[in-house]
Amino acid sequence: MCGIVGYIGNREAYPIIINGLKRLEYRGYDSAGIALYDGKTIQLCKTKGKVADLEANVEKEICKTGNLGIGHTRWATHGVPNDVNSHPHYSNSGDLVIIHNGIIENYTSIKKELINRGYTFSSDTDTEVLVNLIEDVKKKENVKLGKAVQIALNQVVGAYAIAIFDKNKPDEIVVAKLGSPLAIGIGDDEFFIASDASPFIEFTNNAIYLEDEEMAIIRKGRDIEIRKIKDDSIVAPYVQELQLNLEQIEKGGYDYFMLKEIYEQPSVIKDTFRGRLLADKGIIRLGGLEDYIEKFINADRIIIVACGTSWHAGLVAEYIFEDWARIPVEVEYASEFRYRNPVITEKDVVIAISQSGETADTLAAIKLAKEKGAFVYGICNVVGSTISRATHSGTYTHAGPEIGVASTKAFTTQITVLTMIALKLARVKGTISQSDYMLHLRELDIIPSKVAKALKKNDEIEEIAKVFKDATNFLYLGRGYNFPVALEGALKLKEISYIHAEGYPAAEMKHGPIALIDEQMPIVVIAVNSNHYDKVVSNIQEIKSRKGIIIAVVTEGDTVVRELADYIMEVPNTPETLSPLVTTIPLQLLSYHIALMLDRNVDQPRNLAKAVTVE
Ligand code: AGP
Ligand code: GLU
Repeated sequence: MCGIVGYIGNREAYPIIINGLKRLEYRGYDSAGIALYDGKTIQLCKTKGKVADLEANVEKEICKTGNLGIGHTRWATHGVPNDVNSHPHYSNSGDLVIIHNGIIENYTSIKKELINRGYTFSSDTDTEVLVNLIEDVKKKENVKLGKAVQIALNQVVGAYAIAIFDKNKPDEIVVAKLGSPLAIGIGDDEFFIASDASPFIEFTNNAIYLEDEEMAIIRKGRDIEIRKIKDDSIVAPYVQELQLNLEQIEKGGYDYFMLKEIYEQPSVIKDTFRGRLLADKGIIRLGGLEDYIEKFINADRIIIVACGTSWHAGLVAEYIFEDWARIPVEVEYASEFRYRNPVITEKDVVIAISQSGETADTLAAIKLAKEKGAFVYGICNVVGSTISRATHSGTYTHAGPEIGVASTKAFTTQITVLTMIALKLARVKGTISQSDYMLHLRELDIIPSKVAKALKKNDEIEEIAKVFKDATNFLYLGRGYNFPVALEGALKLKEISYIHAEGYPAAEMKHGPIALIDEQMPIVVIAVNSNHYDKVVSNIQEIKSRKGIIIAVVTEGDTVVRELADYIMEVPNTPETLSPLVTTIPLQLLSYHIALMLDRNVDQPRNLAKAVTVE
């Protein structure tokens, strides 16, 4: 995700846009840019780095004049963060200027077609392809910008919130939305455009939030014209009067970034498999993997190195890879791996998982593996991060910036990528039947709706949190694919509520931890439909016989555990392989609510950092 800002009216656009970008920086911060237009000359400045860096460059490079302008703070998805990949992007003629939040899935095929027609590209972004597609349509069809945008977007597959202007029409901005947010602030003969209302809330609280597949032609001194992209039909504008304050808006109306990011999971899981998972066609397409399939297929083993939550995602992957791709997997704490002189050969594939892409221990593990000849594949959330550049290849999660220190959407998007890799390898190796393969693809495709359904249990989970907020110890138990989820649930609780919690394989409880169980000890048991279900039920009965208090994560409609547990948190029925994507949701919410009730700083828990760049 990124932040887009635009202005058209009678004020100087620059201060509105640059301040608006500062308010949107939480949405993406690896580069920034601005284009201003006074009707004669376009002033465009863009740079890798923060909005402050842009501000400094503007002072040196351009005039800050113009009543029309657009600005962008980038969270790269296609093309590393550098000056040339920053937005705004010009079309080849220099007449059109665009900013974009989102992903154009079919940009490669469109780019090839445009190159054949003589277009050239200076950046690696999908966005530069889009602006030239619009230009190409505008020229071929001999239509105005608005019509060209409408025609072009019907050729595009992906997600976008765009703002674009034509230097030949200085009194007009065209915007369009699908999948990424776009708000239009309505002032007195002036309009504001932004990813959320924070850039314009001080100027107006009247806003239009475009719906998906809507576009707007915004002209100074005239009414806004909203149209359906699909058929160009007119849409009646719905102007809302916003009651939100600035801080609430930055958090999307949520009290904390962590809660916002928990609720973003349906959409960012979808963004992560967008263009990569074509379930009905039985296709998984991962750019970074295609050229290295043989390395994985012929590997003696896969070694996964990571820390914290990312290590838990690796543990889930161990089950999926071994279950379906039949490739031996070892999951290692990066901090241990780097120091224990591991036996690594050229026949090993190492997967490094890191949200930040900057974790020192994981980076060191990568360097060690490369020195010993292993092929190293990265799964990162930050494009152009140190780890993403240190690995031989990789796949980015498209979770957008994760601001809350406690990792949530990074975990589920990492598992999404790992699942796609494992299923693709299993398909190539022939270790999965066609029916199982297609079932898993179709189930993965609908996971966002199941995660959304699991999130709907929030209020019930908040009530459970009230009961246990003063507990001093928790035990989290899970089996199989959900053993790593038990570890992750315990980590979430520990790191934001400061309550001690331990995750264990459910069967392992009998080998020690069962001595801890008494009436004071809440035990969270993941007891969803699985091959281990009956065994987990037995574990629950063992706990009950020692008067332990059970909070069970169960599959909706469960009738057995419901009778045994003291509290239940329901999730939609999901194949065991994909169940971690839904079972982790109630555990995230339980931790969030308990921490909130204990007045913890949920987004910045004590002693923690978002990226542990030290050893
Ligand atoms: C998890 O909630 C923590 N923030 C922490 O364990 C984190 O997962 C770990 O530091 C690894 O970070 P990375 O994914 O950025 O490498
Ligand atoms: N896909 C575009 C890029 O990589 C936009 C990314 C964003 O939403 O920031 O430049």
